[in-house]
Amino acid sequence: MRITTVGCGYLGAVYAASMASIGHEVLGLDIDQAKVENLNAGISTFHEPGFDKILQEALESGRLRFSTDYLSVSEYEAHVICVGTPQQIDSAGADLSYVYAALDSLIPYLDDSDVVVGRSTVPVGTAASLVERLRAAGSNATLAWNPEFLREGFAVKDTLHPDRIVYGLPEDPGGAARARAVLDTLYASMLEAETPVVTGNFATAELVKVSANSFLATKISFINAVADVCEATGADVSVIAEAIGLDDRIGPKFLRAGIGFGGGCLPKDIRAFMARAGELGVTEALGFLREVDNVNNRRRDHLVNMTRHALGGSFTSKRVAVLGAAFKPDSDDTRQSPALYIASKISGRGANVVVTDPAANHRVQAERPNLAVADDAYEAAESADVVLLLTEWQEFKDLDPVRLRGVVGTPHMIDGRNALDPARWRAAGWTYQSMGRP
Ligand code: UDX
Repeated sequence: MRITTVGCGYLGAVYAASMASIGHEVLGLDIDQAKVENLNAGISTFHEPGFDKILQEALESGRLRFSTDYLSVSEYEAHVICVGTPQQIDSAGADLSYVYAALDSLIPYLDDSDVVVGRSTVPVGTAASLVERLRAAGSNATLAWNPEFLREGFAVKDTLHPDRIVYGLPEDPGGAARARAVLDTLYASMLEAETPVVTGNFATAELVKVSANSFLATKISFINAVADVCEATGADVSVIAEAIGLDDRIGPKFLRAGIGFGGGCLPKDIRAFMARAGELGVTEALGFLREVDNVNNRRRDHLVNMTRHALGGSFTSKRVAVLGAAFKPDSDDTRQSPALYIASKISGRGANVVVTDPAANHRVQAERPNLAVADDAYEAAESADVVLLLTEWQEFKDLDPVRLRGVVGTPHMIDGRNALDPARWRAAGWTYQSMGRP
């Protein structure tokens, strides 16, 4: 199938290369000339395992190219909207301006037989408003809603081998048949592999995505709330997570207590969901998400307080090593990163903070010039009064506690991700503290 993808950020670039890799002919569109030039040269603009390889192979196959020029859009039959929907600067709601701009830029080139596929995460009701926008502009193109569920760090795998595919189809039978035919062709190889397809109307498909992310956020905040109680009682939250996770109905995933969730999705999605519920007159239905957000934010401040205690009550002139800046391992994304929040807060209170991250150092330098950056953990920890592990990269889990002890001022480790083995670190002479574990 000949498809365009609009937006070549995280979602769009991975989607474009992945679709080309399974045989489609793809034109990736973006307004950012530099980004387009980089992608055409096979250079990734973000850190994502496996993406560079798939990008280069797709470019070599001749089935993928990127452009800022919409003129050839009329030669393509499906158009996939992959732009971001960040939190608005002055409210909790999602900023839909990129989605509307993406549709508006396509409209002049659409045939009535074309299908526009929305993949961005949007508030419920957006797809219906996009249909109105198409019609108002005189286009009879069909809209389908097809939310994505990719995790950063696993973006290629999640795009090519999703757990499920969701089809949001229009109410009119002709449009629904057209949309389904296009989606079936797009995802033919996944359907052959018997990936489950779940079908609903636009509102259902839009809500599937925000419901999934809200549930994941709730699971994390739940276990973090339990961690608070563990700290007050001497219980061990990781043993509790293991025990409750063995119940099939609960499952073991997303029960890692720590400094909470960040990133470009979960925080903004729960806030946008609450904002939309307010607009729909059902604020109370999602009132619990406010607490999910609060629990999450408290985890970060809790770690800041633990650090202050470890330093004897004051940050002034103390040296703090921070291991990790990305919101999670295998990513260089620092959006809403708990690690970066904590590092900045501690620096703002007078400590000398040295951060190191295997992939995100360049972002720390660009976004937080007040923070010093080191090449690795041993350099960051030199003469440190306390070491904070805030993103659980494998290379931090593999650290040698004996060697690290040799460089620090005080061997005090606060493990914000419960990623290290307490016995091993204590045996090497460290004071070791973690989250919700005695
Ligand atoms: C998430 C969803 O998982 C994905 O389906 C959606 O499409 C986009 O949002 P992502 O933002 O890549 O993906 O990160 P995810 O792996 O979900 O982790 C989110 C945050 O939760 C990270 O900061 C992570 O460190 C934290 N987390 C995760 C925990 O604190 N504990 C856990 O048990 C799991």
